[in-house]
Amino acid sequence: MGHLRRAYLGTMSEVAWRLPGWPQRLLTEFSLAERGSMVDMLAAAQATPRREMRRKYFLHALDEGRHAGIFAERVKALSGGRVARSDAVIEDAGLLQDHGIVGGKTLFERLGELEFLAFVFVAEADAVEQFGVYLDRKLPDPETTAALRDILKDESFHVSYSKLECERYRREGKPVDAALRAVRWRRMKEGWMRFTRDFGEWASGFWLLLLYFGAVGPFRLIARLESGGWRSASGASAVARNGLDEALAAARLES
Ligand SMILES: [Fe+2]
Ligand SMILES: [Fe+2]
Repeated sequence: MGHLRRAYLGTMSEVAWRLPGWPQRLLTEFSLAERGSMVDMLAAAQATPRREMRRKYFLHALDEGRHAGIFAERVKALSGGRVARSDAVIEDAGLLQDHGIVGGKTLFERLGELEFLAFVFVAEADAVEQFGVYLDRKLPDPETTAALRDILKDESFHVSYSKLECERYRREGKPVDAALRAVRWRRMKEGWMRFTRDFGEWASGFWLLLLYFGAVGPFRLIARLESGGWRSASGASAVARNGLDEALAAARLES
């Protein structure tokens, strides 16, 4: 694990598990990611030309579906059994489809089998690393910790089988290292884009808040209507209403 990534994961996980409501948010994201992986794996099982991989992808999909359910249960339990908004999001089939299929193509179709397996290896290894940080720091509650330990066993198996497949491709002389580099680069780029989107949302909210409370609000308190200037909203709506009545009367006369 790179030192930079370890520091980033450690800092973010301390924040994410301690702020009220954030563990539910985090677990919801995990549940969605697991369901997205399940869709990717089912699509791979259908599309692979390699018979021996079909069963592996299908079993992998079943694991990911089970993980999605476990995380969704934890969200519900931490929300006091209520059907939170996050649960409604999990049920959103449209969102699920957006995760699994982009531009009408599944992940497997976009990447091809070699890069798909490189992606599985990198993504699963990252997940194992991330869950390990949470457990080392004893951040989740005891039930979520037990669930994470259970899920980690499957994720470790996903890492080992995808690694074996990558090594098999390497022995055949396929460009595995280039595929791994491409996957890591794309994941970094996507992470950066997610960060900039979230930061953009936060920054626009912050500046709009400042604008409303620092400029628009005080201005409204000292502003007065002037003759020949702005008109009051009620006057304007009366004018609009009269205009509409006249138009309706004209239409009735014509008919
Ligand atoms: Fe998983
Ligand atoms: Fe996995």
